[in-house]
Parts: sequence; C-alpha cells; structure tokens
Amino acid sequence: MKTKYLLIFAIAAAMVLSTVNAQQFKEPGAPCLSCHDTVTPGIVKQWEESKHSKVGVKCYVCHLAKDDDPAGFEHMGYRVTAVVSPRYCESCHPKQVAEFSKSKHAWTAFIGPLKPWYREMVKQGKDPLKLETALEVNPRDFIKDKLTPLYPDSGALKRAGLLDSKDYYHENQVLGCLECHGTYVIAKDGKILDGWPNNGIGRVNPDGTMGTCSACHTRHRFSIAEARKPETCGQCHLGPDHPQIEIYEESKHGNIYASSGEHWNWDVPPGQWGPEDIAAPTCATCHMSGFGGVVESTHDVGARLYWELQPKKSVPQWDDPSLVPLGKQKPDEEQAKKGRAEMKKVCRVCHASDWVDGYFESFDKVVSDYNKVYEYTEKLLNTAYEEGLIDKSNPIDEIPEIMYYYIWHHDGRRWRMGASMMAPDWTHWNGAVDALLDKLNMMEEWIKMQREKKQLEERVAKLEQKKGVCGPTAIAAIALLPLAGYAALRRRKL
Ligand code: HEC
Ligand code: HEC
Ligand code: HEC
Ligand code: HEC
Ligand code: HEC
Ligand code: HEC
Ligand code: HEC
Ligand code: HEC
Repeated sequence: MKTKYLLIFAIAAAMVLSTVNAQQFKEPGAPCLSCHDTVTPGIVKQWEESKHSKVGVKCYVCHLAKDDDPAGFEHMGYRVTAVVSPRYCESCHPKQVAEFSKSKHAWTAFIGPLKPWYREMVKQGKDPLKLETALEVNPRDFIKDKLTPLYPDSGALKRAGLLDSKDYYHENQVLGCLECHGTYVIAKDGKILDGWPNNGIGRVNPDGTMGTCSACHTRHRFSIAEARKPETCGQCHLGPDHPQIEIYEESKHGNIYASSGEHWNWDVPPGQWGPEDIAAPTCATCHMSGFGGVVESTHDVGARLYWELQPKKSVPQWDDPSLVPLGKQKPDEEQAKKGRAEMKKVCRVCHASDWVDGYFESFDKVVSDYNKVYEYTEKLLNTAYEEGLIDKSNPIDEIPEIMYYYIWHHDGRRWRMGASMMAPDWTHWNGAVDALLDKLNMMEEWIKMQREKKQLEERVAKLEQKKGVCGPTAIAAIALLPLAGYAALRRRKL
C-alpha cells in the first residue's frame, strides 16, 4: 500500500517537474521531435508506439541531464544525456528501480568481468563506485591481461605470448563479457570517454548508478510484452555455461510457448497476468511477474530462487549481491526458503501441490549429487597439486585444471540448471554425462598417466645414479614413455 502511494506521489511530482521543464522550451510540446522526426525517425516511431507517449512522458523527460550527471552535454540549447540510467526512471518507477538495483543483475559487472578491478581498487582504499576511480585506473585496461579462470583464454594466450602484447586488444571481452554483464561508462564534462555504446545489464553509469533498464525494455517502446517473452532473456542466458534459453526450448513449457505463444495475451497490465492469458510460463512468469494473483511482480531476479546453481559448489542463495565482488557473501537459508516458497506459488497456479513438491524434491537431489561429484573433483585436483604433477603458477593451463573448470563451469552448471527448469537432455547427456564420462575420466586418466611417468622418471634417475649415465634399462624405460602415453590416450578415445 505504502509503495502505491509513494508511486502516485512520485508520478505527480515528476509530471509537475516535466511541465516546468517543458515551459523552458521555446516550442512547447515538441522541442526534440521537430528535429528527431527526421534525425532519428526509428526512435520517434518506437516512442510513439509506447505507453510513455500516451501518458506524456516526452523525450526531454528522460533525456534532460541532471545537474550532477557527468554525461550531460549541451545539445541544441538544452543539456541532455544519452546515458539514461535507472536514476532517470526512479521518480516514476521507484519500486522497480529499488528492486532492480539490489539484484545480481545490477551488480553483475563487478561480480563478473570487472571483479579483479573492483577488488584491487578496494585494496588500494579507493571507492570503485566513484567515477574518479575509473578515471584514474581504467577498469577495462586493468582486466585485459589478467591471468585467471575468470578469463579462461588467458592461460593459452600467455603461452602464445599474446597475453600482455601491446598489439593484442582482447576486444572479445568488450563485445563478449561486457555486452552481457555491462561496462563502466566513463564520462567527463559531457564527453563519453570509454565503455559506450553498451547495454549490458550491470552497466556502471557515469552518475554512479548501476545497471540499465533497457537490457529488457528496449528503447523506446519500453514494453512489458517484450520483457515477458523468453527471447529477451535468452539474449544473455544461453550458451555452454548458462543455457537457460536452450533449456527452456527443450522443456514442455517452452514447447507449448513455441506452438501457441503467438496467440497469448502479452499486454495485460502488470499484476493482472494469469493462466487465462498464457498456457505455459515464460522466464518472466516464473522469475519476475505478478501472476495469477498469488505473487507480486519483482525486479529482483534472485527473489524466487533457493540455490546458487552457478558456483563451483551449490549453496542456498547468497545474502547480498554487493558482497560477492569481494567474496564476502554467505548463504542465507531463510531468504532461500522464502524464494522457494514464492516459486512454488507460481507453479501452483497451474499445477497440483503434489506435482510441484515431487518435482522440487527430485531437483534438490540432483543438486546434492552434483555437489558430491564436485567435492571429489576438487580433491582430485588438489592431489595433483600436492604430488607435484601440476603447479599453480598458471591456474588454467594444465589438463586437470582445464577439466576441473569444465566440470563445474560448463557441464556441472548444465546438469543443475537443466534439472531446475525441466530439460532432461541438458540434465543428463549435456550435463552429468559430459561431466562424468568425458571430463572426469579425462582428468583421472591424465593424472594417472603423469603419475606413472613421474615414477618412471624417478626410477630412471635412480638407475642413472647407480650405473652411470645411459644404462640399458634407462634407455628402455625412456623409450617406453611415449608408448605409455599413447596407450592411455587410446583408452580415452574409446
Ligand atoms: C535542431 C535539431 C535538434 C534538436 C532540437 C534536438 N536534437 Fe537531438 N540530435 C540532433 C542531431 C542532428 C543529432 C545527431 C545524430 C547523429 O549523430 O547521427 C542528435 C543526437 C541526439 C542524441 C544522441 C547523442 C549521442 O551522443 O548519442 C540525443 C540523446 C538527443 N539528440 C536528444 C535530444 C533531445 C532530448 C532533444 C530535446 C531536448 C533534442 N535531442 C533536440 C538534432 C536535434
Ligand atoms: C522513458 C525514457 C525515455 C524517453 C521518453 C525517451 N528516451 Fe531516448 N533513450 C532512453 C534510454 C534508456 C536510452 C538508451 C541509453 C541507455 O542505454 O542508457 C535512450 C537513447 C536515446 C538515444 C541514443 C541511442 C541511439 O541509438 O543513438 C537517442 C538519440 C534518443 N534516446 C532520443 C530520444 C528521442 C528523440 C526521444 C523522444 C521521441 C526519446 N529519446 C525518448 C530513454 C528515453
Ligand atoms: C515522468 C514519469 C516517467 C518516467 C521518467 C519514466 N516512466 Fe515509465 N511509465 C510512466 C507511466 C505513467 C507509465 C504508464 C503506466 C500505464 O499506462 O499503466 C509508464 C510505463 C512504463 C512501462 C510499462 C509499459 C507497458 O508496456 O505497460 C515500462 C516498462 C516503463 N515505463 C519503463 C520505464 C523506464 C525504463 C524508464 C526510464 C528509462 C521510465 N519508464 C521512465 C512514467 C514514467
Ligand atoms: C552471453 C552473455 C555472457 C557473456 C558473453 C559472459 N557472461 Fe558471465 N554470465 C552470464 C550469465 C547469464 C550468467 C548467469 C549464470 C547463472 O546464474 O545461471 C553469468 C555468470 C557469470 C559469473 C558468475 C556470477 C556469480 O554470481 O557467481 C561470472 C563470474 C561471470 N559470468 C563472468 C564472465 C566473464 C569474465 C566473461 C567474459 C570472459 C563472461 N562472464 C561472459 C552471461 C554472460
Ligand atoms: C531482467 C529484465 C528486466 C529489467 C532489466 C527491467 N525490467 Fe521492468 N519488467 C520486466 C518484466 C518481465 C516485466 C513484466 C512483469 C510482469 O509481468 O508483471 C517488467 C515490468 C515493468 C514495469 C511495469 C510495472 C511492473 O512492475 O510490472 C515497469 C514500470 C518497469 N518494468 C520498469 C523498469 C525499470 C525502471 C527498470 C530499470 C530499473 C526495469 N524495468 C528493468 C523485466 C525487466
Ligand atoms: C517453470 C518455471 C521456470 C521457467 C519457465 C524458467 N525458469 Fe529459471 N528457474 C526456475 C527454477 C525453479 C529455478 C531453480 C530455483 C531454485 O534454485 O530453487 C530456476 C533457476 C534459474 C536461474 C538460476 C541459476 C543459478 O545460477 O542460480 C536462472 C539464471 C534462470 N532460472 C533463468 C531463466 C531464464 C533465462 C529462463 C527463460 C529462458 C527461465 N529461467 C525459465 C524456474 C523457471
Ligand atoms: C543483458 C543480459 C541479460 C539479460 C537480457 C537478462 N539477464 Fe539475467 N543475468 C544476466 C547476468 C550477467 C547474470 C549473472 C548475475 C551474477 O550472478 O552476477 C544474470 C542472472 C540472472 C538470474 C540469477 C540471479 C541470482 O540472484 O542468482 C536470474 C534468475 C536471471 N538472470 C533471470 C533473467 C530473466 C528472467 C531475464 C529476462 C526477463 C533476464 N535474466 C535477462 C544477464 C542478463
Ligand atoms: C501457466 C501455467 C504453468 C505454470 C505457471 C507452470 N507450469 Fe508446468 N506445465 C504447464 C503445462 C500446460 C504443462 C504441460 C502438461 C502436459 O503435458 O499436458 C506443464 C508441464 C510441466 C512438467 C512436465 C514436463 C514434461 O516433460 O512433461 C513439469 C515437471 C512442470 N510443468 C513443472 C512446473 C514447475 C516446477 C513449475 C513452477 C516452477 C511450473 N511447472 C509452472 C503449465 C504451467
């Protein structure tokens, strides 16, 4: 109730504010449209089709720069900004902005690709959220040549001599990682110096806010219909390490969407969406929407989850996304249980309780199984370190390290995520089987082979000591080495 009044008040305040702004213009009503009709006709058309145009939220309502916004620039007599951060929506949509801002979505540049920079800045006593810090040490330049499993190509690039080469740009990070997670947009005196254009969901804006609403509500339609469709989420939630859209496509829910989704009611006002409008849930239905009158909509996508399914070992949801960049997060069982209860409410709009409970019981067992395999894998890796078969100097260049990475980061995620969203193939063949039959076997085989090689080498060394250099046994043993390696690889191929 309180938020409702707050919202009404905020809209009224913003409307007053925008009329004040409008009075400053020489051409009331259309100071921007007069040019932008021809300069950017696509943008104007999309805005005309949006709810915003119907309720009088004109171009300048969003684009007039706030006084302290470093991205604001003089433009045809007005001070405008091209970086319309969540702060520009906040006056009218405070609930959505507050929920989004505390979500992992908003924090994900620092949880993901910019984590090494964030940590280093904090270590140096600087505030990573302050633009001055980014102006001092450019985050993108800083992360480029970090040797870490966060950048799984870094080990190979180091060997190739490219990791810190001046002529190698690492531009796959810009158009890869940062397109999904978001960049740091650096601006000074109205000039954008770095990180633009970018629509990554955790983009760090020059005004100190995090995230961008247009990751799901593309400009300038800002439509809920678009955000409710799975393709919107699938732009980032896909691929070998988080194939949520592929998982959805495989599930019965995704099948029903594919066969009849075009006839569903996508435009139903927020809070009124229900089973009479859609026959099966989409990503948004389960994770965000107000649905069937039993759950309120949320812009915190973590609010209905129990598990963290992406880390090495699954634990109940972490307490606070802002603690993750520094590794200070802790599992929060209470919040996780609430999340599970919310999710179950959504399922029960369409399914019976037994169906839902049975499903989650089985899913939780999958997570538990995976966790046991992970613990075994971790022990195996540590044994290889302890025996001196591999070393930690480069964390992602030797076969056991690479296989360990695939087991948790690719196959193990698919195994858990496939099970969480009803996709049997991702759970089994692309998940458990790839992790166990392929990667774990390869890891063990390699370790065994290296162990035997090491033992042989030690025996040879002893023999050499005893009989002088190059005794006949030593020659025979060395000749056997490649043969042993070949035999092991043959076995693996079968
Ligand atoms: C006299 C014509 C004119 C008027 C009036 C005008 N614009 Fe523009 N605007 C332009 C032109 C030309 C461009 C550049 C387009 C390009 O780079 O291709 C532009 C670009 C922009 C950009 C993109 C800037 C960037 O760096 O990406 C924004 C945002 C913008 N205008 C907003 C506005 C707003 C808001 C208003 C009303 C307050 C407005 N404009 C009024 C002509 C105008
Ligand atoms: C509801 C707020 C809102 C309104 C109203 C709005 N914009 Fe935007 N505009 C945005 C957002 C958000 C972006 C994307 C930039 C970002 O990601 O921060 C944007 C980006 C732009 C850009 C730069 C992007 C590009 O593709 O070059 C231009 C130009 C622009 N808007 C012009 C306009 C014009 C003209 C109007 C009126 C017809 C308008 N905007 C109305 C929020 C708005
Ligand atoms: C001046 C107030 C104001 C500002 C600023 C504003 N909006 Fe809105 N917005 C509204 C109003 C009013 C509605 C219409 C509600 C309705 O029709 O139910 C709306 C509707 C929406 C909707 C729902 C559209 C639909 O299809 O039902 C979305 C999404 C949205 N806004 C996103 C944004 C984003 C993102 C920003 C900032 C970039 C923004 N708004 C800025 C007032 C504003
Ligand atoms: C196609 C979009 C996309 C690209 C490209 C991408 N990511 Fe991600 N990343 C995601 C998504 C989506 C998740 C969420 C996975 C989940 O929770 O299921 C994620 C998760 C993560 C996580 C785990 C976050 C957590 O909460 O534990 C890290 C760390 C990460 N990414 C770093 C990176 C880095 C570094 C790169 C580039 C080397 C990168 N990502 C490239 C989309 C992407
Ligand atoms: C991860 C995707 C995503 C992002 C990012 C996102 N939204 Fe939404 N938004 C949605 C979905 C999905 C809905 C529809 C919810 C429903 O069905 O009830 C929605 C609905 C809305 C609505 C309609 C009212 C409501 O709550 O249902 C408004 C207003 C809105 N969003 C504003 C924003 C603003 C402002 C931001 C940025 C702070 C933002 N959204 C960022 C996905 C997103
Ligand atoms: C039928 C409901 C449903 C649909 C549809 C659905 N999900 Fe999920 N999703 C879940 C459940 C249940 C979980 C696991 C929750 C838990 O941990 O208890 C989950 C987990 C997740 C996670 C968390 C994984 C992690 O790393 O912790 C992400 C990300 C996700 N879903 C994204 C999506 C996307 C993107 C789509 C659409 C392509 C989608 N979901 C469709 C129910 C759904
Ligand atoms: C522009 C890219 C992008 C889009 C679009 C996007 N996501 Fe995400 N999402 C991410 C990234 C990156 C993460 C990883 C956040 C982290 O852990 O740092 C993530 C994480 C999540 C999580 C896990 C949150 C948690 O607290 O563990 C869920 C659930 C999720 N997204 C659902 C959705 C849904 C539903 C949509 C569409 C309505 C969507 N996402 C759209 C990039 C995106
Ligand atoms: C909007 C309605 C709706 C919602 C919400 C919904 N489902 Fe479904 N679900 C369906 C329909 C329809 C089917 C197909 C039933 C059939 O095969 O006839 C289905 C099928 C399933 C199946 C069977 C898959 C198969 O391969 O046959 C499972 C399991 C399932 N749902 C679990 C869930 C869970 C768990 C949730 C909540 C996280 C959920 N559903 C939310 C409508 C829904």
